[in-house]
Amino acid sequence: MVKISPSVLACDFTKLGEEVNDIERAGADMVHLDVMDGKFVTNISFGLPVIEALRKKSGMIFDVHLMIDSPEVYIERFIDAGADIVTFHTEATNDAHRCIEIIKNRGKKAAVSVKPNTPIEDVYPYLDKCDMILVMTVEPGYGGQSLIPETLEKVRKLKAEIEKRGLDLDIQVDGGIKPENAEAAKAAGANVLVAGSSVFKAPDRKAAIDALR
Ligand code: DX5
Ligand code: ZN
Repeated sequence: MVKISPSVLACDFTKLGEEVNDIERAGADMVHLDVMDGKFVTNISFGLPVIEALRKKSGMIFDVHLMIDSPEVYIERFIDAGADIVTFHTEATNDAHRCIEIIKNRGKKAAVSVKPNTPIEDVYPYLDKCDMILVMTVEPGYGGQSLIPETLEKVRKLKAEIEKRGLDLDIQVDGGIKPENAEAAKAAGANVLVAGSSVFKAPDRKAAIDALR
């Protein structure tokens, strides 16, 4: 079963709570929250207080994508703020095992992400310890970009490795996902689709989510 995780980066931030409730009504399985620090990526989005405030307005699964350096320093605070799934980047930390441990010790779902130019093999040491791998399909930092087709080859490779090991892990793709390429992403092995622009900017969000699914 494919899950859809709309990214609020493309929503109307003046009414964040209502926007999230709206995509829940439209059938989204979770909500994707992109945290950027201006260091790991060349953009700054939002952080702890926004997620904490949103938690009071929504019971949805919070799928928190940390695009920040040294995630191990902040992970616990994002969990306190309301994160259910915590995704960090392997490129951002020297101790991914420790990051996973912190997340799992708090009973939350742990995910490791790679940027488009990072070999997918870099996540193989964590496959039996985490719940999900996020394969970035654009360079992280900005919404509204086009999917880089070569990244789907990494998804295929990862899916084969997961099957070879007999593991049960979600594969998430993020960046430029729209109804026109969702089929290719799913065929490659992805089962959690993040979509910012193609959901929040759609005239009919429910139709957009259905089309992605
Ligand atoms: C990019 C973010 C994505 C982004 C997706 O750095 O991680 O989650 O918001 O937005 P779209 O779907 O518009 O590419
Ligand atoms: Zn993201």
